[in-house]
Amino acid sequence: MQEKLQSIQARVMEQLDQAADTAALEQIRVTVLGKKGELTGILRSMGQLPPEERPVMGQKVNELRAQIEEKMAEREAVLREREKAIKLEKESIDVTMPVEDRTMGAMHPCSIVLDQLLTIFTGMGFEVVEGPEVEYDHYNFELLNLPKNHPARDAQDTFYVDDNIVLRTHTSPVQARIMTTRKPPIRIVCPGRTYRVDEADATHSPVFQQIEGLVIDENITMSDLKGTLDTFARHLYGEGITTRFRPSHFPFTEPSAEVDLTCANCKGAGCRVCKGTGWIEVLGAGMVNPKVLEMCGIDPEKYTGFAFGIGIERITMLKYSVPNMKYLWENDVRFLKQFR
Ligand code: PHE
Repeated sequence: MQEKLQSIQARVMEQLDQAADTAALEQIRVTVLGKKGELTGILRSMGQLPPEERPVMGQKVNELRAQIEEKMAEREAVLREREKAIKLEKESIDVTMPVEDRTMGAMHPCSIVLDQLLTIFTGMGFEVVEGPEVEYDHYNFELLNLPKNHPARDAQDTFYVDDNIVLRTHTSPVQARIMTTRKPPIRIVCPGRTYRVDEADATHSPVFQQIEGLVIDENITMSDLKGTLDTFARHLYGEGITTRFRPSHFPFTEPSAEVDLTCANCKGAGCRVCKGTGWIEVLGAGMVNPKVLEMCGIDPEKYTGFAFGIGIERITMLKYSVPNMKYLWENDVRFLKQFR
């Protein structure tokens, strides 16, 4: 047994010296000191020794165990240090290496303008409301005084889903939805996508965006509409910009107006953008037709209101001098990154 211990000692000391990494050390620990290890085995078999030899052998085994553990700890410290160095070496970063340029996204110009419009109108006390893009004919047309077979429906080339469901042709159905569900005072703006059967060209697209405005209360007059739109124009394009109302017709407003803004490009002097007139047409508006109020359950004797609908692409094109609407949906990054 004595010899066995000596051979273990010699072998293990050499193995420890040669262990290349901490995993190898662990392997040695298991085979020598572990539950089924060699030394443990010797301790167990000591029962076969004559009783007087047992304490001597026990002490020897324990000494060897201590010696191995000490050596193992030393070796482990060395190996850990080495492994750490290798790891650091592998993970080191060359901070002088040039990095790839990260391309940053940008807000779409229409989103920038919409954000601005919402800031302007919420600043005037308007609440923002949204409605569905797939809409009932009832809200898109009928409640807005456009019964079936009304000739004015032709002006809005409609995508029909079925006889009673359309892709909304304007944001006005949202006002109908709100009027039928709320009591005045009402003061809302409703932004969103709208659809019309149109060939895409420099100024048209089958999908476009509008923002609808609606105010209903007692004693609302056309001058409230004019004041609201003047304020909007000034905030959007700056001092010196006003509105001009031209008589028009919408079935849901009476009277109705096409509203022009002072050409922001020439401040009204006349230029290429406004074709020399000094004015740019940007929206439709009017006093809510009493018939519409009545159909929506609001007493037209007590309440009056105004409404307007603004084309967001059009405003955006004017604001940034975008010459063709296709730039707004082509998503060419060379165009978009100008808005960073
Ligand atoms: N809904 C109209 C359109 O899309 C615009 C409009 C809205 C006109 C509200 C008057 C009042 O053409």
